[in-house]
Amino acid sequence: MIDFTSRQVPKADIAHQLDCIEQIHRRNALRPEPPHFYCQTFGCQQNEADTERIAGMLAEMGYVRTQDAAEADVIVVNTCAVREHAEKRVFGIMGQYTHIKETRTDVTICMCGCMVQQEHIAEKIKKSYPRVDIVFGTHMLWRFPELLLRRLNGSKRIFEISGDPKGEIAEGLPVQRDEGCHAWLSIMYGCNNFCTYCIVPYVRGRERSRQPEDIEAELRQLVAEGYKDITLLGQNVNSYGKDLGIGMDFADLLARLDAVPGEYRLRFMTSHPKDASEKLFAAMAGGKHICHQLHLPFQSGSDVILKKMNRGYTKEAYLALIEQARRYMPDLVLSSDIIVGFPGETEEDFQGTLDVVRRGQYDLLYTFLYSRRSGTPAAEMPDDTTAEEKQDRFNRLLQTQEGINQQRQDAYQDKELSVLIDGLSNGKQESEYTHCGRTDGGLLVLVRGEDLHIGDFVDVEIEQTSLRALYGRVIGKGYHG
Ligand code: 5AD
Ligand code: SF4
Repeated sequence: MIDFTSRQVPKADIAHQLDCIEQIHRRNALRPEPPHFYCQTFGCQQNEADTERIAGMLAEMGYVRTQDAAEADVIVVNTCAVREHAEKRVFGIMGQYTHIKETRTDVTICMCGCMVQQEHIAEKIKKSYPRVDIVFGTHMLWRFPELLLRRLNGSKRIFEISGDPKGEIAEGLPVQRDEGCHAWLSIMYGCNNFCTYCIVPYVRGRERSRQPEDIEAELRQLVAEGYKDITLLGQNVNSYGKDLGIGMDFADLLARLDAVPGEYRLRFMTSHPKDASEKLFAAMAGGKHICHQLHLPFQSGSDVILKKMNRGYTKEAYLALIEQARRYMPDLVLSSDIIVGFPGETEEDFQGTLDVVRRGQYDLLYTFLYSRRSGTPAAEMPDDTTAEEKQDRFNRLLQTQEGINQQRQDAYQDKELSVLIDGLSNGKQESEYTHCGRTDGGLLVLVRGEDLHIGDFVDVEIEQTSLRALYGRVIGKGYHG
């Protein structure tokens, strides 16, 4: 029989990390003032969730978080490799951080995340950024306490980027979540899809799912701690459970989590169209806590390009899928990712993309210019479209979506929506819309009313709309599920 639990990091190894945390804590407790840490995160929600783990470990070690890198004793930069632009920004910022060490030589500078998982990047840091102390890849995150302790004990610079390519799951390490009523909850890691443009499967390893009981226990804890808006995270949540061999898929997991009592909302991302099913839409529609929100990237509206991307669906199959989702949830808030300028994309291919945008009627689109990632199959594909032409397509795409966005926002005029207040609006001070929040579908609403508090569920009547936000007045209070 296959031992599916072998992917969990053994308890003894976790205990060793907790021991390293304790040793650093004892050392920090002797200092007259607590030392500080500073974290900067690039990239996706998965990285944000990872940074929360690193912050949790550092807090347990006795470090206090600061928003000013210049006063930090430990600096951690969590990097992204999805597009070249993010990598360039990281190298720009590393120059600034390593400069701090000119006057404060005892600062420890760490880099982690997807970008440093690539050999050629690790080599570049080794050669050109000698003041970076610790470089650790995505598979090594749980070993951060041990690596930091080694460096504090005088070890030479540390480069740990290999690790188990299948990846392991570490349970039981601390986490420090960002303030507010929203929390990330990772349900799986890695990706098996190998879309030809994407670096993620190479840097984050194979798909591996957390055990449902661990996820449920974390959800119960989050609800008990007062979190009200919880996002389940995975590169492709729709393939949850395939590796566990317990006959549980993502729709089953959703139904199980939905049964956890409390006043909270549950959302998830990202879904891959090839694995999204009617069963999933039924589970969403039938749930008490599950938001009617779906992020379903289609990337391109051309069957030729979709095939070259290795996406595993056609344009019409995709459009039929979102129609089905809307039959189950007429109030569905839908978003997507699109890549413009994939190698070999013609004007006709691009027209296919515009067609999906028009027919799909999205509330929100994340649009990207194709970025060549070395090591991926698409990087070797011929590409004779000029940068100007790609930019022109990109601009036309934005224009098309802007008109649709406005119409969709306008349709909410005078409607009643349930909003979770999650902050103060940072608009003009004299504005009467003092608070901001999110609808069940994740739309931003600026809210006015008496006696409002962060974490309140309120009923709002929409009075105005703009491209960016809805504006409404509170007409009732309470969680409706
Ligand atoms: N170039 C441009 N966009 C990319 N994405 C992933 N890889 C690339 C790339 N090489 C986009 C996809 C994905 C989102 C997270 O990032 O649209 O869905
Ligand atoms: Fe990248 Fe495709 Fe995996 Fe998403 S599904 S992370 S785009 S390989």
